[in-house]
Amino acid sequence: MTTELLIDELKHIIGSEFVLTAEEDKSPFLTDWRKRFTGKARAVVLPSNADQVAAIVKACAKSNVPIVPQGGNTGFCGGATPHGSGTEIVLSLKRLSRVRDIDTANQTMTVEAGCILQSIQEKAAEHGYLFPLSLGAEGSCMIGGNLATNAGGTNVLRYGNTRDLCLGLEVVTAQGEIWHGLKGLRKDNTGYDLRDLFIGSEGTLGIITAAVLKLYPLPVAQWTTLVATPDIPSTIALLNLFQQRAASLLTGFEMMTQESLDLCAKHFPQMANPLQGKPPFTVLIELSDHESEDHVRQLLERILETALEEGLVSDAIIASNLTQANAFWQMREHITLAQAQEGANLKHDITIPLSGLDSFMQKTDALMRQRYPGIRIINFGHLGDGNLHYNIAPPEGVDPLAFNQAEEVPIHELVYEQVELHGGSISAEHGVGQLKLSGLRAHRGAVAHDLMKSLKRALDPNNILNPNKVVLI
Ligand code: FAD
Ligand code: MLT
Ligand code: ZN
Repeated sequence: MTTELLIDELKHIIGSEFVLTAEEDKSPFLTDWRKRFTGKARAVVLPSNADQVAAIVKACAKSNVPIVPQGGNTGFCGGATPHGSGTEIVLSLKRLSRVRDIDTANQTMTVEAGCILQSIQEKAAEHGYLFPLSLGAEGSCMIGGNLATNAGGTNVLRYGNTRDLCLGLEVVTAQGEIWHGLKGLRKDNTGYDLRDLFIGSEGTLGIITAAVLKLYPLPVAQWTTLVATPDIPSTIALLNLFQQRAASLLTGFEMMTQESLDLCAKHFPQMANPLQGKPPFTVLIELSDHESEDHVRQLLERILETALEEGLVSDAIIASNLTQANAFWQMREHITLAQAQEGANLKHDITIPLSGLDSFMQKTDALMRQRYPGIRIINFGHLGDGNLHYNIAPPEGVDPLAFNQAEEVPIHELVYEQVELHGGSISAEHGVGQLKLSGLRAHRGAVAHDLMKSLKRALDPNNILNPNKVVLI
C-alpha cells in the first residue's frame, strides 16, 4: 500500500483533523524533551479510544508501517522519538484522557493512557486518596508513558515504582487485538503475568490504552527537612537511621551534591540552597503520617537530634510550612531544568547497591576528573533507592555540543564500567529507548538478552511496534 492510501485509511478511522502530515504540525512530536533525538514520520495520528488504536495498528500492520507510541514526550532515552528514516508513524495517546472509574471500596482508579500524571493525582485527592507516583515531569508526562517506562520518581522507597502501582492493563497488541486486562485484583496467579510484561516495555510489545491504578490513603501530615551531610557513608547511615526509626513514614530521601545545587542556583537564583556554607551533600527528607501533625514532627526532631549527636548531619532546617516545604522540593526538581538551560549534557541514570555507592562515587569521580579536568559532575538522585543521576556537564566555557560529540562514548564507557564493577544497573528508572540500546547486551548478559529478543519476536513478529528500541531483533 502506498503512503497516500495508508494515510487515507487512517483518516477514515479517526477523522482527517487527527492525522497530521504537515511538517509544522508534526514537528512537536519529532524531537524529545532533551533535544537529544530528532526523527521523521509519515504522519502523527491522534486516536481517541482503544478501538481506534486497534484499527490503526491493523492498518499499519497490513502495510508493514512501524508505529512509535508517544505519551507526554518527556522520556529521557529517545523511546518516543521516531528514527530518521521517515517510514514510521507516531501514535500519540494524548486524546485517550478519560478517568473511567474510581472504585473507593477497592481503592483503585481506572484511567486512560493519555491522562496527565498530575491530573490523576488531583482526581485521587478529590476523592480523599493518594496516587503516589510523583516526578518532576508530572505536569506533562502521561500514565501510559509512566507505565511503558516503569517510571520511578521520588516516592519509590515507600510505594514502589509504577509497576507496583498498577493492577491491570488494557493493551492493543501488534496484531491490532485488544487485551482486556483491566481487573483490579491484588491476587491473580493464572499463568504468565502479561501486565508485568507490558510494563517497562517502552512501546515495543504493545500499546497501553488504559490501566487500573492502586490508591492509598492521603497522609494527614507531612514534614520536610533539608539536612547537610559530610559524605556518602554518613548519608547512608542517616537513611538507615530514618528507616529504623520512621519505617514506612519515610516517604522521601533525595540527595543533591553541592555542584548540582550550584548549577541550580546559577539558573534559578531564587532557588539557592538555604543551608549555609555550601555543604558537600544536601539531603531532602520527607516524613508522612496518617495520625497527627505533632506525632510525625516530634519523631522527625528526635531522629535529627540523634543524627546531629552522631555527626551524621552538620546542619538541618525543618520546613515551617507548606510553602517552605514546596520550595525545598522545587529546588530539588529544578536541577534537571537547570541542566537543560545550561545546554546539552550527558545523563547516567544508575543504581548501585547502597553498600557499594561510596566506592562507586569515589572511583568514578576520580577517574572522570583526572581525564577531564574541570568537568562538572551533576550528581543527585533518589538515594533512598540507590538511584543516582550521575549527569555530566562539560567544563565551564566549553561548548557542550562539541564536547558531547567527542566524549559521549568514552564518558558512558567510563561510568558504565564502574557500574558493572559495583554490581549496579545502567538504567534505574528512565528505560533504554534508543539511548542505551548498544550497551544492553553486554549489561544484561547473552541469556537475558536472547530471552528479551524471543519475547519481542513472539509478540511482534513483524517488528512494527517501536522497532530498534530497547532490543534489536
Ligand atoms: P514518552 O516520553 O511519551 O514515552 C516514553 C516511552 O514510552 C517511549 O518508548 C514510548 O514509545 C512509550 N510509550 C508512551 N506511551 C505509551 C503507551 N501508552 N503504550 C506503550 N508505550 C508507550 N523519570 C523517572 O522515572 N523518574 C523521575 O524522577 C523523572 N523525572 C523527570 C523530570 C523531568 C523534568 C523530565 C522532563 C523527565 C523526568 N523523567 C523521570 C522521565 C520521564 O518523565 C518519564 O520517563 C515518564 O514516565 C515518561 O512519560 P511520557 O508520557 O512523557 O512518555
Ligand atoms: C529526576 O529525578 O529529577 C530525573 O529523573 C533526573 C534527571 O534529570 O536525570
Ligand atoms: Zn529521577
